[in-house]
Amino acid sequence: MQEQRSSFLDYAERRYRLAGSALVAGGNHPYFVQTDLLENEADQWSGGFLSLSHYDYLGMMHDPQVTSAAKAAIDQFGTGAGGSRLVGGERSIHRAFEAELAEFLGVGGVLSIISGYLTNMSIIGHVMTGRDLVVADELAHNSIISGCKAAKCAFLTYPHNDLEALDALLSECREDYGRVLIATDGLFSMDGDITDLPRLLDIKEAHNAWLLLDEAHSYGVLGETGRGLSEHFGIDPQRIEIAVGTLSKSFGASGGFIAADAKVIEWLKFTLPGFVYSVGLAPSTVASARAALGLLKSEPQRVARLRKNSRMFLEMAQEAGLDTGDAIGEAVVPVLFDGPEECVFVAGVLLEQGIYAPPVVHVGIPKDAPRVRCFISAKHDQKDFERTVHAIVAARAAFRTIGQEGLRAG
Ligand SMILES: Cc1ncc(COP(=O)(O)O)c(C=O)c1O
Repeated sequence: MQEQRSSFLDYAERRYRLAGSALVAGGNHPYFVQTDLLENEADQWSGGFLSLSHYDYLGMMHDPQVTSAAKAAIDQFGTGAGGSRLVGGERSIHRAFEAELAEFLGVGGVLSIISGYLTNMSIIGHVMTGRDLVVADELAHNSIISGCKAAKCAFLTYPHNDLEALDALLSECREDYGRVLIATDGLFSMDGDITDLPRLLDIKEAHNAWLLLDEAHSYGVLGETGRGLSEHFGIDPQRIEIAVGTLSKSFGASGGFIAADAKVIEWLKFTLPGFVYSVGLAPSTVASARAALGLLKSEPQRVARLRKNSRMFLEMAQEAGLDTGDAIGEAVVPVLFDGPEECVFVAGVLLEQGIYAPPVVHVGIPKDAPRVRCFISAKHDQKDFERTVHAIVAARAAFRTIGQEGLRAG
């Protein structure tokens, strides 16, 4: 009997092709790398295995205090939360951690959610309904853009970090809507630039709007003590209606959270779909994030070291003639390339040399700006940066000499 091929397979293949599958054809590409295996084989490279692919900015993921806290929590609480906290009950560690995090951030309350992505997806449509408007930076993280698209309110974007354009847009259309929410990243994860929070707050207040500020990459990174963009600019965090964070970056764990007024958190605890209808964070995840928070408070030198490292890498890259776009030298530093082939080639060469810094092409960035995105860590050192910059410059030169066509011909 002849096998029936579902039209869904044709559809999936076409969509994948349009998304750029040719770039990863044959399996020889620097994605989905099994980094533990590379770590095991680190001896083959003179500088060992070096990752610039993890946003473990403060070196928490393997810190003995963090890992032993997670192990102890498994012994004490088991491996899962066992249900939605609303109806399944929570563990004492959920509440203790959220209170400590709220105190650290200088806000009334914190609510942790199973994923950072889900946090944005769920909160925007929950807060904004009917005749409301959400207006987002065009390069805001995909979880914000998807959350805006999924919401029942109107959705507009403003050009990246162009706050005068945002001001003009709101002057023109504010009257047409009920409530207005402005949504943006604090530190942009693809470009390493930041939004001008003082100006943004002025605009928000002038237009009687609210602000959702995604501090996923800025908590633990920006400000003297890692309290984020508001500390960076010396602003009272309580002027921000909804701050969103993740535990997956500076806290070395996973999960997202909302930081807001205590009354807002109380409302969300009983109503936010992404919280109410999803499982609570595993106690071991909470324990590791809590231990990381403890280290962030007791060892602010980690933040200083991350900053020193980020600036060092940025300067070295720029001095070597690499294009780092608008990055300001805070944890995220992209190296931009002329085309996706060049970008993927360079990342492949890096990987052969034990340096994992994956290429970002097409997804989540403007199509004409492929990049090798480097996440800097407090654990890196000068040698790591010299090695990386040297390897990128050499690989780019090789690509330009051989030429794209030559490479294709093999
Ligand atoms: C700005 C921003 N917000 C939200 C998220 C989603 O967080 P998570 O990966 O912890 O789900 C990310 C992910 O990297 C991000 O960059």
